[in-house]
Amino acid sequence: MNGNDMTRGEFLLSSLALAALPASADGVTGDKLKVKDIVVEAGAEKPFPVLHVSDTHLTAVYPAEDKWKQEMSRADTPIFGKRQEEALAESVAYAKAHCNFLLHTGDLMDFVSAANLDLVRRHLPPGCLGALGNHEYSHYGWLAKKAGTAGPGREDTRKMLSKFYPFRLPIAAKVVNGVVFVALDDSDGTVSADQVAQFRNVVTKTGKPVVLCMHVPFYTLGICKASKRWWKKGTDEANPELSLPDFERQRSDQTTQDFIRYLKEEPRLKCILSGHLHRTVEDRFSQTAVQYVAAGNFSFAAQMVRVV
Ligand SMILES: [Fe+2]
Repeated sequence: MNGNDMTRGEFLLSSLALAALPASADGVTGDKLKVKDIVVEAGAEKPFPVLHVSDTHLTAVYPAEDKWKQEMSRADTPIFGKRQEEALAESVAYAKAHCNFLLHTGDLMDFVSAANLDLVRRHLPPGCLGALGNHEYSHYGWLAKKAGTAGPGREDTRKMLSKFYPFRLPIAAKVVNGVVFVALDDSDGTVSADQVAQFRNVVTKTGKPVVLCMHVPFYTLGICKASKRWWKKGTDEANPELSLPDFERQRSDQTTQDFIRYLKEEPRLKCILSGHLHRTVEDRFSQTAVQYVAAGNFSFAAQMVRVV
């Protein structure tokens, strides 16, 4: 995929088309959501809200699916509160009623199963934007390994998932009221040279303010500290640079380091929206952008991003 394909295919979903979406007809109201308000001063032509959710961790499985997936579902469903599908449905309904579009920044599924894929197809509305998370890959590979098969690689997994997710992989963009949202797959903590080239192409060609959306947040000291506290790993506060694996991969990958350095100097970057940590965190990323991390959608968490 090149940048021209992306601008043709994904760019021009307008706010007008999405504003006409009907409210949910199945009794789901979105009123159970815990919605946190965020204001992003991007210089929009007209203010608009976006509903940002992440980490729903669907754990559905059909009876006929393999025993490893049954096991995974049994183990993880209670961990994520047993109501993940309801949380997703509430989010979709809330976005339809109150927002311009829904943004999901990954780990929509806890692991790949036919039942989870059917839920993705059933619930994610056309016009939503999003990125994949590490669970869309790692548990697929992990489960295949357990079952004694080689399992698919990242490219094959992505190709398969792209049939179910209604947004482009591994990078997608849309323009709303003069603001560009770019969602990219950084689910292993890094970005590729091709993603960077496409991102820069979008920024240069449009000349518009940008909101970057992805699963794994980019390292900042505040986000790293919060992440360590939450996951009870590397809790050495005196040595905050002692980092977590995701941030170590970011640090050791030259392409990702160069991208982060460029983003910090890019005045058109107005905000980063991410997930992965399962808790709400925010920290300044650059002079022009704050990075906001959404808590797990499995706990009915959502962020109302008011772009002004
Ligand atoms: Fe997650």
